[in-house]
Amino acid sequence: MRTTQILSRGWKFRRGEQPGAEAAGFDDSGWESVRLPHDWAISGPFAAENDLQVTRIMQDGEMEETRHYGRTGALPHIGTGFYRNVLEIPAEWAGKAFRLEFDGVMSHATVRINGREAGGRAFGYSSFAVDATGLLEPGANVITVRAENRSAASRWYPGAGIYREVRLLTLEPSHFNYNGVRLDASVADLEKRRGRLRLSASHTGTRQARLAVSVSAPGGSCAAAFECSPEGGEIELDAIRLWSPDAPELYTVEIELRENGVAVDRVTLRCGFRLVRFDADAGMFLNGKAFRMNGVCLHHDFGPFGAAFSLPELRRRFGLLKSIGCNALRTSHNPPDPKFLDLADETGFVVIDEAFDCWAAGKVANDYSCDYPAWHRTDLADLIRRDRHHVSVILWSIGNEINEQGLPGGAAVARELAALCHELDPSRPVTAGLDRPDEAFANRLPQELDIAGWNYKPARYPEFHAKLPGIPQFGSETASTFSSRGWYDFPFLAERIIRENRQCSSCDLEHPPYATTPDHEFEQQDACPWIMGEFVWTGFDYLGEPSPYNSHWPVRSSYYGIFDLAGLPKDRAYLYKARWSEEPVLHLLPHWNWPGREETLLPVHVYTNYDRVELFLNGVSQGVRERAGTPRLVWEGVPYRPGELKAVALDSEGKAVASSLMRTAEEPAALRLSADRAVFAAGGEDLICVTVEAVDRNGTPHPLSALPVSFRTEGAGALAALCNGDATSLEVFTGNSMRLFSGKCAAFLRAGETPGILTLTAEAPGLPAAKLAVKAE
Ligand code: GAL
Repeated sequence: MRTTQILSRGWKFRRGEQPGAEAAGFDDSGWESVRLPHDWAISGPFAAENDLQVTRIMQDGEMEETRHYGRTGALPHIGTGFYRNVLEIPAEWAGKAFRLEFDGVMSHATVRINGREAGGRAFGYSSFAVDATGLLEPGANVITVRAENRSAASRWYPGAGIYREVRLLTLEPSHFNYNGVRLDASVADLEKRRGRLRLSASHTGTRQARLAVSVSAPGGSCAAAFECSPEGGEIELDAIRLWSPDAPELYTVEIELRENGVAVDRVTLRCGFRLVRFDADAGMFLNGKAFRMNGVCLHHDFGPFGAAFSLPELRRRFGLLKSIGCNALRTSHNPPDPKFLDLADETGFVVIDEAFDCWAAGKVANDYSCDYPAWHRTDLADLIRRDRHHVSVILWSIGNEINEQGLPGGAAVARELAALCHELDPSRPVTAGLDRPDEAFANRLPQELDIAGWNYKPARYPEFHAKLPGIPQFGSETASTFSSRGWYDFPFLAERIIRENRQCSSCDLEHPPYATTPDHEFEQQDACPWIMGEFVWTGFDYLGEPSPYNSHWPVRSSYYGIFDLAGLPKDRAYLYKARWSEEPVLHLLPHWNWPGREETLLPVHVYTNYDRVELFLNGVSQGVRERAGTPRLVWEGVPYRPGELKAVALDSEGKAVASSLMRTAEEPAALRLSADRAVFAAGGEDLICVTVEAVDRNGTPHPLSALPVSFRTEGAGALAALCNGDATSLEVFTGNSMRLFSGKCAAFLRAGETPGILTLTAEAPGLPAAKLAVKAE
């Protein structure tokens, strides 16, 4: 039988080439001890020179030079890094087969076992396995992993090193191949609640091998058990519980490989039953009911943790997205961590699993286009083999804003990739994020897709519907609105505005010329019922792509998120919540601390799903606004007077049904610490996020405070990261202090190995120290 050992500990790491590191006697005592997943660049320092790109173009006879800072996060991820570990293989494992599984190494990984090259992968987002049979021997074995990141290889922060899990599998000589078990769950009859499970497996065993399958229903009761040949078998189940984002019911399937009746290998996969129907005219249906994708695009990084995969942080982020009514995710623009899909299955999101940001025609000099010719079929096929049992995955995306849209032969490439997807998974349609409709239509590329995704083209949805009869469509990327959490500038304008302080007004209207306001997208989504929903760019701010300030310094992260880089909600979180969720929303902006602007007329916006709202300033009505489509209500000119802004939601008879307040804060008098959980799991991995705010003597948050706060911890854990969401900040995430940005920052605590109490102390000049205790169990 197999054993699986997660190789998170015992690793040594050093940057640069490390000649001789493969040798058994090599002295790595000077190397850094790291725990996987690891991102070698996240501790910084940030620097303008990191991956600085310079473009030169002739303009009116003069050479114009533009310096692109921070495109990949301004972190030191370029270059090589070496990981080294010594694995003890016990003598009783002689004769076993071994496999090392890597969920992702950034990038161009080479794995050596006792000095012999064992495998590797160019694409940093692909999962891969290395057959270590015959290479690992009883006793001490040296594993080295070399990773190399090139400059100008990405349009965002890619991360660096072994940023996802690594496992050692000890197997019997007869075993399932890597991702060798194929499991398809489908709804055979929706009315009768009948499901069908199909299974097949590739393995190294003999011809007489059989599969013994046992299926557990959600909750654990045995739903079925059967035997079949590895070539394939199926079973029908009655009274199935359907999976949906609201009720993510999962079945567990245990598949045993038997030879001559003896079990030699076993894997457990989860699956679910759901019926998705995409209709070109009527939209999308899930389990027979109309379903609109309220989605976000997500890059793979975790803000202050960099690319290093963290299940607790992903869980927190998914929880935040759920809290605003988000039900769909697009893994822009690359294969996600496999645990991302486990968690999407479990918590209930539909997912577009996206393979590539480019094909052979690249977007930056050294991107995946360099590896595409040799690797794309392997990378795409491996993605599908790995992910096709996930109930959350509803579409394969073969690419984002691919340059081949406008190049000769583009449609043929799309056809090739779509055919590969269909061959490996006939159950799911193939899509792509298209941004150049005219070129793409001239090339007949959209016609090669089962479903067309459009990036930033809401005004043209009716035209595309007419041009692509029979092809369902949706907004694969929408809005791309810039905002800095809690920072405002007047007037509120729907434009791209460049400011000296490199911030974007949090009125959720500023956007690049190719994009739109969220409101415009909402209008078009409503006007075009066949459009199956939208995927907002992006759920969270991410490292890199600091547009509109990509030629300014210092900047190092994006402004596009609904939540900031720390996961703190921006105003936009309430705009989408008002649109997507059933929960009542009544959210006021901007803040009401404008010293020096007394009596100036300011815009006040309320994000709400109530139909009528009356605004009061210090008890004086500023008028009633009624909602027409968008969740944004606008009062153009409210004179700034310190005090209290109050939004009151009214029912059809004019009766107040809810209210919300925005008060002018006095000087900061204290730091307030609020933890997202009081208890977490000991073991060195679990995280608690503490929101740190400057508040006045009445407890009103101070929206302008930029106090420097220093942190220390005592007890059962440590400070894991700090982040304030300010895209212009060069303070490292892994230090002990951080300035507040718009009055807030987030402090992440990591549980220690053993249970106990962990105390966080936060101090800022002139304020009493604040303390918070959490428990690691
Ligand atoms: C899109 C692109 C995304 C991101 C976004 C920013 O065109 O697909 O990756 O760059 O623009 O607005």
